[in-house]
Amino acid sequence: MLHDLVTCPLFFMSALKPLHFLLRWPLSALMAWTGTWALFLFVLSPRLPLLFAVALATSTGVLCSVMAGTFWRRLAIAAGFPLSLLLSGSITLPAWAWLLPLLLILLIYPMNAWRDAPLFPTPSEALRQLEQHAPLKPQAKILDAGCGLGHGLIALRLAYPDAQLVGIEWSWPLRILTALRCPWAKIRQGDIWKADWRSYDMVYLFQRPESMPRAVAKARAELKPGAWLVSLEFVALELQAQASVQTVEGKPVWLYQAPFLLADEKNKSIKPSPSAQKKKK
Ligand SMILES: C[S@@+](CC[C@H](N)C(=O)[O-])C[C@H]1O[C@@H](n2cnc3c(N)ncnc32)[C@H](O)[C@@H]1O
Repeated sequence: MLHDLVTCPLFFMSALKPLHFLLRWPLSALMAWTGTWALFLFVLSPRLPLLFAVALATSTGVLCSVMAGTFWRRLAIAAGFPLSLLLSGSITLPAWAWLLPLLLILLIYPMNAWRDAPLFPTPSEALRQLEQHAPLKPQAKILDAGCGLGHGLIALRLAYPDAQLVGIEWSWPLRILTALRCPWAKIRQGDIWKADWRSYDMVYLFQRPESMPRAVAKARAELKPGAWLVSLEFVALELQAQASVQTVEGKPVWLYQAPFLLADEKNKSIKPSPSAQKKKK
């Protein structure tokens, strides 16, 4: 029991709830910049290569950036340390060394993941009522396709505490961080479009409106009868939803069960939510 409490990230998250204000913008950025500078000055030593201290502080800044909610905030957090170091003129590095932050950003946010869906987390309460509309057998297998930092897995675990949860994520650093955050889930690095969905009882997606036709085609080809395709926010225009639930404003959850019913023309006129349209631009 004690072991469960110590290892359970949900317990830690609730224990740290009073400190969640530190993650709010712009305090989160100030904390990240101060932290990266403190780390840089701490590891700076004549015995270590200067580049090591720069790389360590820069990668810490990039890792902190994944917690920010928008692209520009992430960029501000990730670029804060290297940019202020460059402007301070306090060190001289070869020109190529300034490509390092860019490489790190590309490692965390790979380009093809941006095309399919950038990192936006599932709100923890968004999947609360899922179980009432899509009951699953004990030990059912659920895939979070593109699991990011594990927020979707955490929300799925709240809805289905005894399910076997699997996450696939394209970005290696996010895959490693999610494995640490969600030790109760199986996380692997990979491409959700190349993965085999046939063994899953539910595939959960929080991608982009543009990715939905591809997800529908894959789900129709691979999901077994009775299995669910669940999409946060973005509707599958080609299919008729069995249900749609909304516990968090602006974040409807669309549920489709195989064998899928095709949408009639009327359903095709369903528009994505306003926030979905905003993200599209
Ligand atoms: C909007 S986030 C959702 C994260 C998580 N599912 C959640 O709900 O909190 C989408 C994630 O999908 C990942 N992703 C996008 N395309 C992918 C692909 N083809 N294969 C694997 N992961 C992908 C992105 O890197 C990003 O972390």
